[in-house]
Amino acid sequence: MVQTNTSTIQPDHDRKADLIAFDETKTGVKGLIDYGITEVPRIFRLPSPENLTSQQPQLSLPTIDLQQINNNPIRRKEVIGQVKDASESWGFFQIVNHGININILQDTEVKKQWYTRDLSGKTRLAYHSNFDLYAAPVTNWRDTFYCTMAPNPPQPHELPLVCRDILLEYSEEVMKLGVCLFGLMSEALGLDPNHLTNMGCADGLAVLGHYYPSCPQPELTIGNPSHTDNTFITILLQDRIGGLKIFQQNHWTDVPPISGALVVNVGDLLQLISNDKFVSSQHKVVANKDGPRVSVASFFSTGAIQTSKVYEPIKELISKDNPAKYRSTTVKEFVDYYRAKGNDGTSALLHFKI
Ligand code: OGA
Ligand code: NI
Repeated sequence: MVQTNTSTIQPDHDRKADLIAFDETKTGVKGLIDYGITEVPRIFRLPSPENLTSQQPQLSLPTIDLQQINNNPIRRKEVIGQVKDASESWGFFQIVNHGININILQDTEVKKQWYTRDLSGKTRLAYHSNFDLYAAPVTNWRDTFYCTMAPNPPQPHELPLVCRDILLEYSEEVMKLGVCLFGLMSEALGLDPNHLTNMGCADGLAVLGHYYPSCPQPELTIGNPSHTDNTFITILLQDRIGGLKIFQQNHWTDVPPISGALVVNVGDLLQLISNDKFVSSQHKVVANKDGPRVSVASFFSTGAIQTSKVYEPIKELISKDNPAKYRSTTVKEFVDYYRAKGNDGTSALLHFKI
């Protein structure tokens, strides 16, 4: 099924000129579709087409019911066991009865005036297509709205009116849910329930609204290429379109959209501090014809913001027989390295291995 796509073999200056022209439209991939294109432009083309037919047999990602975890100790224990198994083997799970009313979750609309490529700690609000536009070999079929909600939340008037209330309300709810999940994960690691939040895992929150426009030739491009997240955890809301896949036991497994559910995944920083007990799994999003697909990814991380906190494998999780696998680092150092490296298919964690 591997085909060489000659349109990706092009002189660099051609690609660069195309990228600049695309960037200058400030309307992202959605702008191309609105313009009426019927073929995937060459900057978006993969070296070989994506196989969009599902491989069988499919493993099935666990769904965990959070009902009663705060008032029924037996249920809580059961759930901690499920969180432990899923975080150790998949690094991914879906949750239902998480306490967030899904009706408050809606699409985020985006505006040209927020279009920027500056993702330094100073930028709290950004809309762009492809954070790594000029570095990545293949441009992704995706536009993103990005907003840092913690530790320095934006003033309401700084937010686009169209998503102001929803963003403030949703991030408040997601922050509560994140703290709850860090409690379950702390216990799943055999630690005090407050351990991970006390370490600062919930200090930072960035909310990303991804928009994957419908694509006329979805097999030729990719919505979000295979990667791991540079977060402690990510809480993802996806709509009904589907297309998110996890690499598990050498196969790509679908994360089926479940109405009202949220997807939770372990990020690189949690893998580092848990000394590989929990795994940060590779995942990707294929492009689709039925779209647009909208997802909202809530990243628990202080990102590129300078903080004094230093992270290393948790003392309680290491021993003589199981020594620390990673050196200490800061979230900023990790994120800066992850972004500078770009998405080349290797894990940023390797750079921090002892
Ligand atoms: C991400 C991500 C998946 C999706 O933002 O890191 O993997 O479904 N998103 O949009
Ligand atoms: Ni991701």
